[in-house]
Amino acid sequence: MREGHFILLGATGDLALRKIFPALYVAFKDQLLAPRILATSRSRLSQAEFLQILDTKSKSHLKNLDLTLWESFTQHIEYVAMDLTQAQDFNALTARPLHPNTIIYFSIAPEFFATTCAHLAQVGLNAPQVKIVLEKPLGVDLHSARAIHKSIAQHYQENQIYRIDHYLGKQSVQNLLHLRASNALLQTLLHRDHVDHVQVSVCETLGVESRGGFYDPMGALRDMLQNHMLQMLTLLTMPLPSNLNASSIRQAKLSLLQSLKPLENKNLASQVIRAQYSADGALAGYRQEPHVNPNSQTETFVALKLEIDRPEWAGVPFYLRTGKRMGSSFVEVVVSFKGGAPLVFRIQPNPAISLNLHANTPLVLQSALESGMDAYQRLILDAFDSNQSAFNHQDELEAAWVWLDPILQAWQANQTPLYFYPAGSFGPQEAFELLEKEGRAWF
Ligand code: BG6
Repeated sequence: MREGHFILLGATGDLALRKIFPALYVAFKDQLLAPRILATSRSRLSQAEFLQILDTKSKSHLKNLDLTLWESFTQHIEYVAMDLTQAQDFNALTARPLHPNTIIYFSIAPEFFATTCAHLAQVGLNAPQVKIVLEKPLGVDLHSARAIHKSIAQHYQENQIYRIDHYLGKQSVQNLLHLRASNALLQTLLHRDHVDHVQVSVCETLGVESRGGFYDPMGALRDMLQNHMLQMLTLLTMPLPSNLNASSIRQAKLSLLQSLKPLENKNLASQVIRAQYSADGALAGYRQEPHVNPNSQTETFVALKLEIDRPEWAGVPFYLRTGKRMGSSFVEVVVSFKGGAPLVFRIQPNPAISLNLHANTPLVLQSALESGMDAYQRLILDAFDSNQSAFNHQDELEAAWVWLDPILQAWQANQTPLYFYPAGSFGPQEAFELLEKEGRAWF
């Protein structure tokens, strides 16, 4: 049973109520965590009012809720209203002695990171035993990612900073690495001698819902590809480290990200397809969604082809696609071998791995995989354990931006077209042609 002090900034926000409190409750119920929780937000709420919000907004996200346990869980929570821009408000965080295992979770917009860090440091909450957990977006390009980091690094060391990519908390994503590390067969197969190409798909039927204000300045490339998708690709393709500790894993991921072949400007139009969903039947188009600019140029879909500049992957194309308002929801990594039969890592729903073999009669080996604990729960427990292996190092973020910035710049300058796809479809025709022109097809 872990003990510690959990300070949550942005406690009335959507992420906190939907993901973080439910994750803390389940960890508490399973006797993995007995934290003292200090919940803060700008809203001037009494303790009772806050607990009322928690009751209405968080409970519905929990399966098999035990009401008595929920009651005892909420007794560990104390609510404090705080304005992060006001230094004196931070004194409320030091009413009790500093716990040797203290986590401060930033579930707030990044524009508040710099002042918040400075104010935390003023009251001693950057002492070595304090860890900060940061939610994305940690920048919208290389320049802003560096600026955010600079303001944080004035007060916190890298080993105190836990950058969340919740895909890394999914057991099915971690399995990409663990299956490789423990199966010599996979180590042999995942090589240019055998692999024809690889596909990574993250398709969602959801539109932008109520998140238009957040999403419109972001788009699919920054929201999904820069982080979740490149991380999955990395776990599948990086050189296997000699051990699986945090620094070896992060170093291996970094070296892979640094070996992504830069996309040349002249190839961007044919290698990177951006598109936006348009209305279809009862489904609204992206530009009609609340808080979205009616002339928005933001992509809700992106498909691209990349290559990895490492000997074992030379010449192997990797196709990545992600989109909102697609025909169905699934996340899949497909390794297509020379000779055809693919290896499929189903990340969600229903995590599984399957391999089709040619025999007298075709043979399909399939194994359902444990979905394990919820991603947020796992990452919060890792943070309490000071285990950074499933969190990103700043250098990884920067390497991803270095590779992506030219795409963003070309789009900003309107050098490549924005295509449209009907809501509920699988993206624009051009995304299919990306593979078809090379004699391949999406799995
Ligand atoms: C988030 C994105 O990081 O991941 C969302 O901001 C997206 O736009 C979500 O819907 C998908 O996560 P999951 O776990 O539901 O696949």
